[in-house]
Amino acid sequence: MKTFNSVAALRTQIADWKKAGLRIGFVPTMGNLHAGHFALVELARQHSDKVVASIFVNPTQFGPNEDYARYPRTPDSDINGLAGKACDALLLPSVEEMYPFGTMGCVQMHVPGITDILCGMHRPGHFNGVAQVVARLFNMVQADVAVFGRKDYQQLQVIRYMATEMSFPTRIIPAPTLREADGLAMSSRNQYLEDEQRQTATFIYQTLNFMKDQASLGMPIHGIEAEAKQRLEMMGFVVDYAEIRRSDLSRAIEPNEKNLLALIAARLGRTRLIDNLEFDFA
Ligand code: PAJ
Repeated sequence: MKTFNSVAALRTQIADWKKAGLRIGFVPTMGNLHAGHFALVELARQHSDKVVASIFVNPTQFGPNEDYARYPRTPDSDINGLAGKACDALLLPSVEEMYPFGTMGCVQMHVPGITDILCGMHRPGHFNGVAQVVARLFNMVQADVAVFGRKDYQQLQVIRYMATEMSFPTRIIPAPTLREADGLAMSSRNQYLEDEQRQTATFIYQTLNFMKDQASLGMPIHGIEAEAKQRLEMMGFVVDYAEIRRSDLSRAIEPNEKNLLALIAARLGRTRLIDNLEFDFA
């Protein structure tokens, strides 16, 4: 695997691959890689000849009181892990490389509508930062396909919207959520959890399943959401939301509609966890 700090050098490599008729797959990440990330690399490989990953902890998607400074940075083990997964190139840009005129002087992005709800409501500006960095990365890599995890379902929808609306040539491929044995969705933020919090954290997935089961029984959606929130609060979570929505993230009306999902964002101490579960009874 070749590691690139400069976009210009990566571009030369990608141009060579494209000249040889090879298809490029792209997996953007913020590093501190786990099995969930590596599964994205493997899925990208199934759809392309050369896989490019990026690691960049993007400052513009963190709010002023969020964990940008303490976000785990583990480049050495990330590089080893990616090389073992037959990743062909890794882009590891500096903040200056990504934002040559600084983060105050950069072109802003705003995806309307979908960014006002759920995580967008609780993390103002977050998805603008995600769209901003992903648009830059897409321009740098010019991939045929890019893989994003369903674990960050709203992010996936924001990227899909942006890519369609702005005619990016990169096709977006969603990847299933990888979980620990007890159901907790894998996340770089899980390591912030103390032992007891780590045990409590499994309750998120249990609550998502509870929401799905209640929906399958035809219980009213508002009642399911209220009970899910209450259950999480009883376990010690501060709940940002526990909702059932349609796959386009509009509000679900009936519990037995097609293509629904339950979504939870909740905090344990300083750690904010998100997860979702898709279901379809129709
Ligand atoms: P990061 O949190 O590092 O996630 C990188 C990719 O891995 C995302 O597409 C995310 O959905 C996926 N992912 C994380 N945990 C997963 C799991 N347990 N199972 C499956 N996929 C999982 O998401 C970001 O970085 C950033 O916002 C980024 C898109 C890179 C822009 O900065």
